[in-house]
Amino acid sequence: MKHETIEKNVGLMAILIVIVIAVGGLVEIIPLMFQAQTVQAAPGVKPYPPLQLAGRDIFIREGCVGCHSQMVRTLASEVQRYGPYSVAGESVYDRPFLWGSKRTGPDLARVGGRYSDDWHRVHLINPRNVVPESNMPGYPWLTESLVDPAVVEKKMRTLAWMGHPYTEADFASVKDAVVGKTELDAVIAFLQGRVAPAAEPAKEDKSP
Ligand code: HEC
Repeated sequence: MKHETIEKNVGLMAILIVIVIAVGGLVEIIPLMFQAQTVQAAPGVKPYPPLQLAGRDIFIREGCVGCHSQMVRTLASEVQRYGPYSVAGESVYDRPFLWGSKRTGPDLARVGGRYSDDWHRVHLINPRNVVPESNMPGYPWLTESLVDPAVVEKKMRTLAWMGHPYTEADFASVKDAVVGKTELDAVIAFLQGRVAPAAEPAKEDKSP
């Protein structure tokens, strides 16, 4: 009898369906917010140093994320091409995260150390100077503006307020790290920092 009332009343049925789906969703999502594996930094992962933090923001501003993902999936082909697959704990200091979903260019999560700073400099100004068939746009204007230390320090203080473990020493280091650096230097520092987190230290072998 009650079931019939629901089935004959589309509005009521829609509301009840939404409630059921919402409960199901919450049951799946909320535990993730408390799982150490997803909310704690992976071993060796630290908040971004000042110049990399500035570079990350330029990466967002210039839309690099629209062509480059930063998430290596757990597929053999990806691990062979890019390196160790991504884990949640390496993104805890990424606000917002930049995993991306489009790969017009290669994934960049493990690009750190693959090329020299000079290669990146030439490539970012005009990709075709090093990769003739490239269809990536050039970003020559990145050489024209300097990174503003006051802005970087403010960002770090805001992130610290949100729980990133920056210290007074980190804030004090901003000037030395970014004064005189161009936006291009910042993006390159960011790219060179894209490496796999250090492997967990091997557990001490206590066997005789
Ligand atoms: C329109 C799409 C597009 C955009 C936007 C774009 N790229 Fe690319 N990127 C590519 C393509 C395609 C390649 C592969 C060819 C090449 O190496 O130039 C590439 C290659 C690269 C590589 C070399 C990766 C490797 O493993 O060989 C880096 C580093 C890179 N891009 C950084 C950037 C940065 C930083 C930005 C933003 C300032 C950016 N890209 C914006 C398409 C794009």
